Amino acid sequence: GTVKPPVHIKNEPVKPFGSNDTKDWDLLRASLMKFKSSSLEIPLIINGERIYYNNSKRSFYEQRNPADHKEILANVTQATDLDVKDAINAATLAKQKWYQLSFYDRAAIFLKAADLISTKYRYDMLAATMLGQGKNVYQAEIDCITELSDFFRFNVKYAHKLYKKQPIQSATGVWNKAEYRPLEGFVYAVSPFNFTAIAANLIGAPALMGNTVVWKPSQSATLSNYLLLTVLEEAGLPKGVINFIPGDPESITNEVLNDKNFGALHFTGSTNVFKQLYGKIQNGIMDGKYKDYPRIVGETGGKNFHLVHQNCNLTNAIFSTIRGAFEYQGQKCSATSRLYLPSSKSEEFLNDFANILKQGNMIPVNTAAGTISGGDLHGFMGPVIHEQSFNKLVKVIEDAKEDPDLEIVYGGQYDKSKGWFVGPTVIKCKDPKHKYMTTEFFGPILTVYEYPDGEFSQVCDLVNETSIYGLTGSIFAKDRDIINLADEKLKFAAGNFYINDKCTGAVVAQQWFGGARMSGTNDKSGGENILSRFVSIRNTKENF
Ligand code: ALA
Repeated sequence: GTVKPPVHIKNEPVKPFGSNDTKDWDLLRASLMKFKSSSLEIPLIINGERIYYNNSKRSFYEQRNPADHKEILANVTQATDLDVKDAINAATLAKQKWYQLSFYDRAAIFLKAADLISTKYRYDMLAATMLGQGKNVYQAEIDCITELSDFFRFNVKYAHKLYKKQPIQSATGVWNKAEYRPLEGFVYAVSPFNFTAIAANLIGAPALMGNTVVWKPSQSATLSNYLLLTVLEEAGLPKGVINFIPGDPESITNEVLNDKNFGALHFTGSTNVFKQLYGKIQNGIMDGKYKDYPRIVGETGGKNFHLVHQNCNLTNAIFSTIRGAFEYQGQKCSATSRLYLPSSKSEEFLNDFANILKQGNMIPVNTAAGTISGGDLHGFMGPVIHEQSFNKLVKVIEDAKEDPDLEIVYGGQYDKSKGWFVGPTVIKCKDPKHKYMTTEFFGPILTVYEYPDGEFSQVCDLVNETSIYGLTGSIFAKDRDIINLADEKLKFAAGNFYINDKCTGAVVAQQWFGGARMSGTNDKSGGENILSRFVSIRNTKENF
């Protein structure tokens, strides 16, 4: 169809919520109260049809508030094997019409959804993400409002650019054309709990390119994810384009990966699960299960580093590390989780670090949004996502106490009486190859290694050698030759590399996000590359 130029697109600004008594807070409180008191019933959505557990024979799971685990936010219908088949059939059928719509029409739906989310549904999206996923208002803003609408809008801009690319060479009497077909099979989107925005991109990027989607949301983010799909419906998304099937991850995945029309996996989640799916898909190919070689696009975790040089702005390194390691309780795939300090600066760094952390809620988390302070819902840190995560992190802390090579130099507290709370924790490691320096904990636990000042070059090699993952990392230094040395030696240790900044908070279209090694396929969400993974080009030659 016709490709029209995109509207002027820029990053959605973060709303400065400021103090507790603004009109914005009143609106947000109303949305929070609505979800807190509703115990919403969430259906499956297959071919636009809503299927509820309570008038069918299906089971359900509860999504609870991690800050108050007695509170049930939603009862979610679980998809059966038959529902998964229906969702696949719905996606397969819907594609016939969907991909023949013009790009302009498909794009309009995502642009409209972005506008609805940043206006009419802003407070509901924030409330659903804050309550369900344990975020403060700032963390929710930069996720389910700004990053989410940025994904929808910039994907349109990038797709437009991609569709315009045509073969550059045509011989006399010959006309060549590149046609950006969607994949022939359906896309299976598996989304994580930690970012509503990531879920939006996992479904949105393939759908924009004319694909249809079978979507398994995270059990811990179903509320916000369901709301997102209802907004897309309001924006005009046709039935069957995105089919929503919450439920048991393993049984849903098994059903999906057995289907002949499985065309792509679009995944964000844990490394272990991704490895398993990758292996299953490869086996499926060997067994002749699929029509195509399914595309595998995945982003997992990291053991992301901050490397501090003796000559740097130490205050900046300290604040950046606090934010990188502990914002959203360290549950970003990009979170800072290992720190390398020069021994001459280590004591000063850790003392100042501890003093700032002790002030708790007074940590400035965003200059544009003002200093966020006080209150349960918008304090600096909240709960970790669920009991399993809490138990795992407690074990990491308790095991550290028993290990002579480890020393807890800050924190180590936890409390599950009301919610799943784990305090910010710093653990010093004597051995830079200790498993605590290479294992991702996905929580507010930072491991630290002190290196001799004169061995900066060796420590760069060490960071590289111990990077099983390759997601994000930062160097804090003033001298250009030091920055360049780290840049060169850490070429493959991070897909997102930061100089004098924390290693979290990639902004769509500014820092394309993703990493290689065990962190994923590095297809870069928020950039143009990823969209090309969801098209299958046909080249036509015509003789005149
Ligand atoms: N894109 C998110 C970040 O960079 C995960 O922090």
